[in-house]
Amino acid sequence: MLLVPVKLTMEDIVGEIPYKRPPLEYPPPANCLDSFLRSLGLSKPQPLRRPPLTKAVEICNFPEALERVRYALRFNPPSTVLRWGKLVTVCNRSIEPSEFEPDPLRLDVNEEELKLVCRTIYHRTKLEEVQSVVLMRDMLPKMYDKHSLERGKRVSQKERDKRGVTDECFAYGELDQEKFIEIYFKVSAAYGDWPEKPCFFDLGCGVGNLVFAAAFVGKVPWKTCGGIDQIEGLVERGEKRMPRWERLTGIPSETKKIEFMWEQDNFLDNPDPWMDATFILLHWTAFNSEQLKLAADVMAQCREGCLVVTFTNPIPNSDFEILIKGNVDVSWGPAVYYIQEKLTPRKAVKGRVAGETRVEAQPDDDFDEWG
Ligand SMILES: C[S@@+](CC[C@H](N)C(=O)[O-])C[C@H]1O[C@@H](n2cnc3c(N)ncnc32)[C@H](O)[C@@H]1O
Repeated sequence: MLLVPVKLTMEDIVGEIPYKRPPLEYPPPANCLDSFLRSLGLSKPQPLRRPPLTKAVEICNFPEALERVRYALRFNPPSTVLRWGKLVTVCNRSIEPSEFEPDPLRLDVNEEELKLVCRTIYHRTKLEEVQSVVLMRDMLPKMYDKHSLERGKRVSQKERDKRGVTDECFAYGELDQEKFIEIYFKVSAAYGDWPEKPCFFDLGCGVGNLVFAAAFVGKVPWKTCGGIDQIEGLVERGEKRMPRWERLTGIPSETKKIEFMWEQDNFLDNPDPWMDATFILLHWTAFNSEQLKLAADVMAQCREGCLVVTFTNPIPNSDFEILIKGNVDVSWGPAVYYIQEKLTPRKAVKGRVAGETRVEAQPDDDFDEWG
């Protein structure tokens, strides 16, 4: 199995070391004549400048510098093509000194340090009690009042027995919706607040509660929230709750406009519905190494810059970079999860089952319909 190396060694350090503001530095005298003129008061002294901040630890402890990073993220959200280069450029953009601001903040950060900054923001962010979260906590349990984990397992097992499906990759388990939205909020804070009309898919959605959870809390209203599962009895349990969703009152009109997509399908066989997603959840713990490899090839069709959360194993594909490796409890016990970003343009893939004619290696800009 080909695994993407995890480079996560600095995260404990960042945030622990208090940042000391560097001392102000006088620029060295330009030349003797200049110093002579300056001593006579005939030449203006150059303004004092602090050296630029270059390290994540410095930036993370300097609110104005963090503000600059957030600004860069806001204008280059997930799914921006060649995003990290653009983020670095915006962060490092210099501001001319002026009479009112003689020493504006300067950053000279490289991509690696910037990723460290984002990782620190991720770990520092907590789930807030914003209106959308309160709404989800109130309404989702009502929508799923008859559901339990045991019931989901029974539905899955019964259908698998009936259809003679023996592959363990279809084993049922659940991620708690609170934990899912916490990951979503942390990702949004650390990696940017999504482009317009983002699109979420839970690949292997089970009963679909996380699809609704995403719909409730989307920081930028989703264009589409979708759930795909091979087990019809499960995905049906999501879809049949749509009338309840439609009857809900008190949710913002933008949220009500979300298009839901429920598919009983093997998402590996048919990536057409989800390949434009900006945020994907893949709770694929039960996948064996062969299935992971196949899935990784199929995932190469995702758009550049999409973010994917996977459980237990990262996507074994160098098109994706691991941004975060974290721990979370799921229904079957403690799990490791990964947040990965696709850094390459969409690729055509050998062995593609559906939509063969449509998918060629194409620039992502052609697919901008979903933001
Ligand atoms: C561990 S459950 C996750 C359920 C839900 N996403 C969650 O995290 O709470 C995994 C689900 O993925 C489905 N699944 C596994 N492989 C699949 C595939 N290739 N195509 C569609 N569904 C699949 C299984 O049927 C199962 O319902």
